[in-house]
Amino acid sequence: MSIVNVRDIVENKKQTLKRKIVELRDEGIIPKLAVILANDNDASRIYVGRKRKLCHEMGIDEVEYVFDEKCTTEELLYTIEKLNNDNDIDGILVQLPMFSNIDEQKVLDAVAPEKDVDGFSSINVGRLYKGSKDIVPCTPKGIVTILKELEPDLAGKNAVVVGRSQIVGKPMAALLLAEDMTVTICHSKTKDLVSHTKMADVLVVATGIPHLIKKDMVKENAIVIDVGMTKVKDKLVGDVDTENVKDIAKYVTPVPGGVGLTTVFSLMENVVNLAIARRKK
Ligand code: GUN
Repeated sequence: MSIVNVRDIVENKKQTLKRKIVELRDEGIIPKLAVILANDNDASRIYVGRKRKLCHEMGIDEVEYVFDEKCTTEELLYTIEKLNNDNDIDGILVQLPMFSNIDEQKVLDAVAPEKDVDGFSSINVGRLYKGSKDIVPCTPKGIVTILKELEPDLAGKNAVVVGRSQIVGKPMAALLLAEDMTVTICHSKTKDLVSHTKMADVLVVATGIPHLIKKDMVKENAIVIDVGMTKVKDKLVGDVDTENVKDIAKYVTPVPGGVGLTTVFSLMENVVNLAIARRKK
């Protein structure tokens, strides 16, 4: 029956990570992120701006590479190769989506696995499904952070993930399975969506369909995580009809001020973890 205060959850963790970064910097290890933006849509620009801003706040160095619509897959591969070989760079982030002429998976697979801060390369996707948590995609990682604050005992409970994207739905399901939950993935072809969502102790919704999830689709006392963020008449709207769902769910994450905050924070954790893994070898 409450809206989750994600800002507080993140704020606490930020202080701990900041202290760790100060220690690293004292040892001469300056975590550094390279961001590649090959798309001119407003949303991507805003997301990248938030990521860079948090880097500054946390004491993580960052450098941005912006490409225009004339760029080619080969140019991006060339830049990634340079960054792979640059000893100062710990993490390489390729913001998605990219311009439509770009071979997205080829670019993601060019990122060295030890610098793949999003975990989107085929090698790291495979590692995640084998149970490795070394590098975990930022949005699902942040969601697990929230869930652990809300419910320490996830094992054996029903998780339903609505949406099967590479960025959220699929890795989310893998992570919830790793928490010993019983996991169902629903998607646009799922028949009788409500029969699944009604079973969910934990319901994660990542479809981009504003207010898809209504009160009558949610189990009493469920934890509902809203990953959606769509602009409707200049307002950001999630996939969950929060105003009504909050009356039946135990917890609902808000939009804005919800999962987006943990996503960006998880990126910071990933950069730091990569810096430690690579430089303290
Ligand atoms: N586009 C939307 N979400 C993400 C994300 O978590 N990482 C990257 N690289 N691109 C995205």
